[in-house]
Amino acid sequence: MTYSEFYRRSIDDPTTFWAEEAKGIDWHTPFTQVLDDSRPPFARWFVDGTTNLCHNAVDRWLPTQADKPALIFVSTETDEERILTFAELHREIQRMAAVMQTLGVVRGDRVLIYMPMVPEAVIAMLACARIGAIHSVVFGGFASMSLGSRIEDATPRLIISADGGSRAGKVVPYKPLLDEAIRLSAHKPSAVLMINRGLTPFSNEPGRDHDYAALRATHLDAQVPVVWLQSTDTSYILYTSGTTGRPKGVQRDVGGYAVALASSMKHIYCGNPGETYFSTSDIGWVVGHSYIVYGPLIGGMATLMYEGTPVRPDAGILWQLVERFKVTVMFSAPTAIRVLKKHDAQWLRRYDLSSLRSLFLAGEPLDEPTSSWIAEGLGKPIIDNYWQTETGWPILTVAHGIDNTPTRLGSPGLPMYGFDVRLLDENTGEALGPDQKGVIAIAQPLPPGCMQTVWGDDERFVKTYFSSIPGHQVYSTFDWGVRDSDGYYFILGRTDDVINVAGHRLGTREIEESINSHPAVAECAVVGVADPLKGQVAIGFAVLRDPAAAASSADRLALEGAVLAIVNQQLGAIARPARVHFVNLLPKTRSGKVLRRSIQAVCEGRDPGDLTTIEDASALTALSEALAG
Ligand code: PRX
Repeated sequence: MTYSEFYRRSIDDPTTFWAEEAKGIDWHTPFTQVLDDSRPPFARWFVDGTTNLCHNAVDRWLPTQADKPALIFVSTETDEERILTFAELHREIQRMAAVMQTLGVVRGDRVLIYMPMVPEAVIAMLACARIGAIHSVVFGGFASMSLGSRIEDATPRLIISADGGSRAGKVVPYKPLLDEAIRLSAHKPSAVLMINRGLTPFSNEPGRDHDYAALRATHLDAQVPVVWLQSTDTSYILYTSGTTGRPKGVQRDVGGYAVALASSMKHIYCGNPGETYFSTSDIGWVVGHSYIVYGPLIGGMATLMYEGTPVRPDAGILWQLVERFKVTVMFSAPTAIRVLKKHDAQWLRRYDLSSLRSLFLAGEPLDEPTSSWIAEGLGKPIIDNYWQTETGWPILTVAHGIDNTPTRLGSPGLPMYGFDVRLLDENTGEALGPDQKGVIAIAQPLPPGCMQTVWGDDERFVKTYFSSIPGHQVYSTFDWGVRDSDGYYFILGRTDDVINVAGHRLGTREIEESINSHPAVAECAVVGVADPLKGQVAIGFAVLRDPAAAASSADRLALEGAVLAIVNQQLGAIARPARVHFVNLLPKTRSGKVLRRSIQAVCEGRDPGDLTTIEDASALTALSEALAG
């Protein structure tokens, strides 16, 4: 079957198509209805079926590969290595699950995981899945305010954390940030479970904080059976940036997600049981959820979890790991490759990469020079894939498990099966033809694996995603794109205020709120500006309450440092703008809307576009002067 026939079937007859794909996982009780779309835009997949993500990821593989590696952990930060077989992982998950139960966690409770890249993080996620608790992993790079607002929204009974992480040899303490986050949040967890790596001292709050090692030791023989969940139950919440400062909890189901991942392992990533999958992402991001934890394990593969950077101890480390663990499928981000590209290409040839079949890259635009450099250096297919936290698995790519559709430089590829991708005019909602720029949208129903709703806010789900294109209740990706005459899509950037820094999705509004919290700042605007290494960086422009506060260049420097320190402390280093410039006014429309796209254009040396609605054109000149000075 050709890919286009396969795709057509998925769109024309989704029920038959997905019933077939659902055979890729174990069901405890079969579903009675493939799709319930009686309440659009909500889609419920595999209604009445019961299953469990942990069972499919671990227990299911015990009869055939109990003694094969399941979780391979390598840290070049702490020089640790651990390999857990499926049997060992199974045991550890039950110990963790028993500890969680001792701390009062029951089905449906939320467990927030704020952890570095250590095996216990994966074990905790799978333990939640096993007992039907809903995990919410918060990226370890986020600081207390970001974390606090997520605690408040998810209202976890338990938080699992660690003393610290390590990045490029520098220890990053987690516990003080967590304590501060809990202090900021109106909701308080009843317990905190601490994994002590011995990296940095921390204090425990008596009665609330518990030591994992001590509790684990009392549950070494724990047997915690899988709780069979409804396919449509919630497996996890993962927060992502949108256009408001309020965190947006992407809520995912159980059965649909398991089916989508199993199917993507087969048709897109082409991974087989017994092989090794290596994703360089972090468990705090969607790629980590889908393709460090659940996808590879559901596919019966070992997953390689790496704590470290791509260039330490040297720029060959990733390929050394590929050789050592015979990685067959690898997943990374363009930024990581651009970092490697600054080093000698010889590093790509030093190790035996014969096991590796393909390298998948996602999360941000893959520029042609980077793509060609790595393709040439490795001599392996490079496969771009475009998707979002909301969708959980690729919207656009090529499915080499179906046929050998060629890739095309600069394009992630074709719509994946199940995704009825449309290119629409943002104002009229009209369908666009080849080479016309429009908004990338997806007609209902969203396929299995995509978000069910916004956690605790169905209305926000409908309003945010399904109401932005006039006259059409379609899902908006908030990405611009064009399609060529062969159906390949090209991504042209976000339509909203979300920016992408080194593959990390950030909302400019969150950063603006943080900058505005500095007492000297009256208002500000943050935009994403093109950067050769990180794709984009955040640049801020702030108007001061008292312009005299930034009269001299020494004043400006000190104030900029203070403002950046606030962002660092509240949101975390990943959200810290590259620069904050001080200006007397911001370019706004006469109705007071900040002209962010014009600001971005000026920063990138482009034409600021249509300025007929600008209140005071001198604001743009002031902006250029601030940039120059
Ligand atoms: O703008 C698109 C960009 O990243 C956004 C989604 O980010 P996130 O929710 O973090 O999910 C990442 C999952 C891989 C998209 O709206 N993006 C993602 N992949 C690509 C991309 N832009 C261009 N090419 C891609 N392959």
